[in-house]
Amino acid sequence: MSKRTWLITGVSSGFGYEMIKLLLDEGEKVIGTVRNKDKISGLIEQYPDTFICELLDVTDVPAIRKLVDSSFEKFGRIDVIVSNAGYGLFGAAEELSDEQVDHIIATNLTGSIQFIRSALPHLRTQGGGRIIQLSTYGGQVAFPGNSMYHATKFGIEGFCESVAQEVAPFNIGVTLVEPGGARTEFRYGSAQVAKLMPEYDGNQHTVF
Ligand SMILES: NC(=O)c1ccc[n+]([C@@H]2O[C@H](COP(=O)([O-])OP(=O)(O)OC[C@H]3O[C@@H](n4cnc5c(N)ncnc54)[C@H](OP(=O)(O)O)[C@@H]3O)[C@@H](O)[C@H]2O)c1
Repeated sequence: MSKRTWLITGVSSGFGYEMIKLLLDEGEKVIGTVRNKDKISGLIEQYPDTFICELLDVTDVPAIRKLVDSSFEKFGRIDVIVSNAGYGLFGAAEELSDEQVDHIIATNLTGSIQFIRSALPHLRTQGGGRIIQLSTYGGQVAFPGNSMYHATKFGIEGFCESVAQEVAPFNIGVTLVEPGGARTEFRYGSAQVAKLMPEYDGNQHTVF
């Protein structure tokens, strides 16, 4: 089977990191985005010809567009787009700060939407492709203490379900991935916590 090219956000740890390790081992080409290249210097050195590591904070919408446009320009064709970057925000709704609410929407929801929207015209022009969005089991059912995380994931699921129908005639497929809990940085290094929860311990949250 001919090798594919992938564009994946948030590959410094967790699902993103594990995904690109597998893909690179299989000889696939990967453009992976991080906020800090130090975290992934080993893979950059190991795969100089097939791994392009780019800096991207997905809350920066013009930067998303620039990165997506330049990646398609460089590679000619990108077969699979994976919107993976995201984090968890733990705490009761009334305990969260306005900044925490805005930031998780900008990352998990707007960041994912704009990443996918930026890729669509290119996928259409090249005659098709696949979009994979990391959602969660919590994109369909809700639990207390995670309201904003659920809001972003329920939101991205609605967006993807609509877009999937819009782009099916152009040979573009959309896949939502809904994992349960996995021991990534999600509940630890990456997690954001309401200021009123100083005793937070990632192990308290076992659902996702
Ligand atoms: N682990 C679970 O239990 C679980 C379950 C269901 C779904 N998920 C979903 O899986 C996806 C990946 O999470 P994970 O579990 O692999 O956690 P993770 O190990 O914390 O990885 C999250 C990745 O997203 C990146 N990221 C966070 N905010 C970003 C931003 N503003 N701009 C660019 N990159 C950003 C992180 O980069 P930095 O290293 O720079 O922070 C990291 O590379 C998320 O969408 C999450 O919602 C996770």
